[in-house]
Amino acid sequence: MNDNALQGQVALITGAARGIGASAAEALAARGATVYVSDVLSCDATVAAIEQAGGVAVAQQLDVTDREACAVLGTKILEQHGRIDALVCNAGICPPGSVSGDWEQWDQVLDVNLHGTQNTVAAVWDSMVSARYGRIVILSSMAYYRGGVIVGTEYSASKAALVGMTRHIARNGGEFNINCNAVAPGIIETDMTAAFDKPDLDEIPLRRYGTAADVAGPISFLCGPESAYMTGTVLNVTGGIVLAG
Ligand SMILES: NC(=O)c1ccc[n+]([C@@H]2O[C@H](COP(=O)([O-])OP(=O)(O)OC[C@H]3O[C@@H](n4cnc5c(N)ncnc54)[C@H](O)[C@@H]3O)[C@@H](O)[C@H]2O)c1
Repeated sequence: MNDNALQGQVALITGAARGIGASAAEALAARGATVYVSDVLSCDATVAAIEQAGGVAVAQQLDVTDREACAVLGTKILEQHGRIDALVCNAGICPPGSVSGDWEQWDQVLDVNLHGTQNTVAAVWDSMVSARYGRIVILSSMAYYRGGVIVGTEYSASKAALVGMTRHIARNGGEFNINCNAVAPGIIETDMTAAFDKPDLDEIPLRRYGTAADVAGPISFLCGPESAYMTGTVLNVTGGIVLAG
């Protein structure tokens, strides 16, 4: 979509050096938003792709587990632009694991996926409340709904907790015109899943794995005017693996 619907708006995306986050950043920039692309990795390639397409992006080193750094970035964006219209909480990790668990990994996954999301929401919340406008999109996973395989319990737990967080934010943000929705991808071909054994294609109704762009579209939709009356929802982007609302 390239409709300038986000012209003049400012968006912050975490985990945007590659994969779904990079694709979502490109999608929001194509609609006219100035996009802060943040990651622990370099976001230079994402910024270059956006600029080559005529968009505006700013690369920002950010570890979402660093609460102070998240707050500092929120303040910096406000100082420079006076607004943060959209936040896409995309940064996540998904190491292989087990049910019995590895406690160090349990803490790491919850720290990035869950606490990191809250750190960034907290960094933009007051400005969205003051502006009486905001769009927050949180990356869950179909693991929230059907449990995971290959991944550890902590991944499914973190992604289910994010659905609870989404609904809580939606409930409390509504009076301030802050919409919060989640996107729950299925099997998307990115670096995250490159080493994973994937299910046979005949287990996926659409008979293919997803691409980062397949997820970026729904994220862009949830940041745009066409989803203005949606909040607290979870969009399953699974090629039909999850056939439930
Ligand atoms: N790929 C899939 O099949 C799939 C399925 C369901 C959900 N998801 C979710 O979608 C999101 C994006 O996944 P992806 O497939 O693009 O993965 P990816 O590994 O390609 O990208 C994730 C990005 O997050 C960044 N990141 C990791 N820890 C970070 C931290 N502490 N601070 C900031 N950035 C950090 C990574 O550097 C990376 O650039 C994740 O939240 C993931 O859990 C992906």
